[in-house]
Amino acid sequence: MRHLLAVDDLGSDGIEEVLRLTASFVEVSARAIPKVPTLRGRTVVSLFYEESTRTRLSFEAAAKRLSADTMNFNVGASSVHKGESLRDTVLTIEAMGVDALIVRHASAGVPAQVARWVQASVVNAGDGWHEHPTQALLDCYTLQEQLGRLDGRRVAIVGDVKHSRVARSDIAAFTSLGADVVVVAPPTLLPPSLAGWPVEVSHDLDGVLPKVDAVVLLRMQQERQTEALVPSLREYTASYGLTRRRAALLGERAVVMHPGPMNRGVEIAAEVADLPRSVVTRQVANGVAVRMAVLFLVLAAGAGS
Ligand code: NCD
Repeated sequence: MRHLLAVDDLGSDGIEEVLRLTASFVEVSARAIPKVPTLRGRTVVSLFYEESTRTRLSFEAAAKRLSADTMNFNVGASSVHKGESLRDTVLTIEAMGVDALIVRHASAGVPAQVARWVQASVVNAGDGWHEHPTQALLDCYTLQEQLGRLDGRRVAIVGDVKHSRVARSDIAAFTSLGADVVVVAPPTLLPPSLAGWPVEVSHDLDGVLPKVDAVVLLRMQQERQTEALVPSLREYTASYGLTRRRAALLGERAVVMHPGPMNRGVEIAAEVADLPRSVVTRQVANGVAVRMAVLFLVLAAGAGS
């Protein structure tokens, strides 16, 4: 696999392979010295045109645990503000000798465009409302870890589905591993058409919660909302927030997930985020091992190293 641009690049066999590799990198991450020489001499650059905490640090940790050299491109302090085009920026970075580019951008399709310009491998770290494949893979790994398997499990994805690349990638990945997905949101936070999406839709969170094995909460992405899509955040929370009362409707073994950053008190109550059934920090920990698996697949597997 040369690039990872979308979940569909992998198919269910590819996802299973990533999950198997992830398990071995979880083992590496648990060692006293969590480092292997697999990508020694390789250079991984992160090119983030949009802010990020966990995804950027997670890829950096993953690259370092595989002994790759890492470089960070800080858009704020770069020549982008002198008017340099994306293509010139990318070709300049590639000319320095780069093996993989980790790309995040506010516009859908940018990582795929970059992949057409360069010889290096490109990994999509989130493009607009489109996809965030490594988040979906770490969510699959976490679900498998917590529930044993995804096949036949029922997962609710709740909140601002319309603006969420995480929702799109999660739906593709979960359903390809055999899970049933129900999206729960007010009509204004759903895409204009759900035709072709392999999901059920509900507007009744209380009715859905007792029947699911996991609930994935999405952040209200106000930076992407150009008009008022909910009457107020308070009313959103009243109907769609995972409050303490609602969390009590979940089955005994059901887990709560959130890709972060969480808005405590909006889509998830502060105390619910801290319940034992909340596996948000497991997601973050697993994210590093998943990204090690992805970097291994694009840079080392099949390359004779
Ligand atoms: C998400 C993102 O940026 O797509 N965060 C993440 O990568 N873990 C979700 C969000 O911004 O709400």
